[in-house]
Amino acid sequence: MEVVLTGIKPTGEPGMLHIGNYVGAMKPAVEASKNASAHSYFFIADYHAIGGNADKMVRSTLEITASWLAVGLDPNKVMLYRQSDIPEIPELTWILHCMTAKGLMNRAHAYKAAVAENEATPGRDPDQGINMSLFSYPILMAADILMFKTAKVPVGRDQKQHVEMARDIAQRFNHHFGETFVLPEAAIGDNIATLPGLDGRKMSKSYGNVVPLFAPEKELRKLIMKIKTNSLGPGQPKDPADSALFEIYRAFASDAETAAVRARYAEGIGWGDMKQVLFERINAEIAPARAEYERLMANPREVEDVLRRGAEKARAVSKPFLAEIRAKVGIRPLAR
Ligand code: TRP
Repeated sequence: MEVVLTGIKPTGEPGMLHIGNYVGAMKPAVEASKNASAHSYFFIADYHAIGGNADKMVRSTLEITASWLAVGLDPNKVMLYRQSDIPEIPELTWILHCMTAKGLMNRAHAYKAAVAENEATPGRDPDQGINMSLFSYPILMAADILMFKTAKVPVGRDQKQHVEMARDIAQRFNHHFGETFVLPEAAIGDNIATLPGLDGRKMSKSYGNVVPLFAPEKELRKLIMKIKTNSLGPGQPKDPADSALFEIYRAFASDAETAAVRARYAEGIGWGDMKQVLFERINAEIAPARAEYERLMANPREVEDVLRRGAEKARAVSKPFLAEIRAKVGIRPLAR
């Protein structure tokens, strides 16, 4: 069965996930994970996040895991684990270091951008502020991917190069030590739905225009009432193609519900009424997940247990595979 794997770095600010992440990424990923023809792996990439605020990293790990569980990811059907619970990953990372050309890492966009910025600043050392973790980030990511014989890696465009590097590293290893790793491919989510935010621009944390996924009901209502509209009054026909409210509604609703609201636009529904309709529709979908999220956030031990059980399942795969890899590279007993 084809393995589809993706990692999420626990670097977010509290309450960072928004309804755009939900409809654009989380909901489709949960749907895809129910597809029996692929095996889905989701993990919290905490090794990739070391170096920032440690307490924040722990908090973010809890939030992300609780969010995924709350929106319906079933840990009995998918692999859901924390990277740092899999000691085979750092060991494979080192083995892959030994098969990775330095020149390949020199070409990584993130590293190159950091060097270029230093070079553009007079009097600065080109390596200022650059850790080895930035330099070899793609090797750790390659270990995440190759450890589980991943075929498809759903990622944003910014991560495409990293997946290609994992492929290069796998090829080199296979060439040297014999067929071992599956060659992974990035699945770029270009067609992912993006939602307009409160001000009509793309919903994004950096624009400060988001509706947080698990905002309490009152706050959710207040935020939706703030979404930008034009100045047409009640009774005047309105154009759904030019309405953030409509676009957001459509992302949550069924085709039939969307058609019904389209008709109300033609009849001239007032913006206040439309906001109420939108609030009720979103809240109907989110409320059960929000309740579950709040329950899990109040029970971190339960979330911890889910991650530990996930790691046990994942290690049932990584342990025997790493044993094979070790033997291939010459880490094996002198005699039996
Ligand atoms: N680098 C990814 C990001 O910043 C996170 C990540 C780590 C990842 N390991 C991965 C994604 C393996 C996919 C597969 O978003």
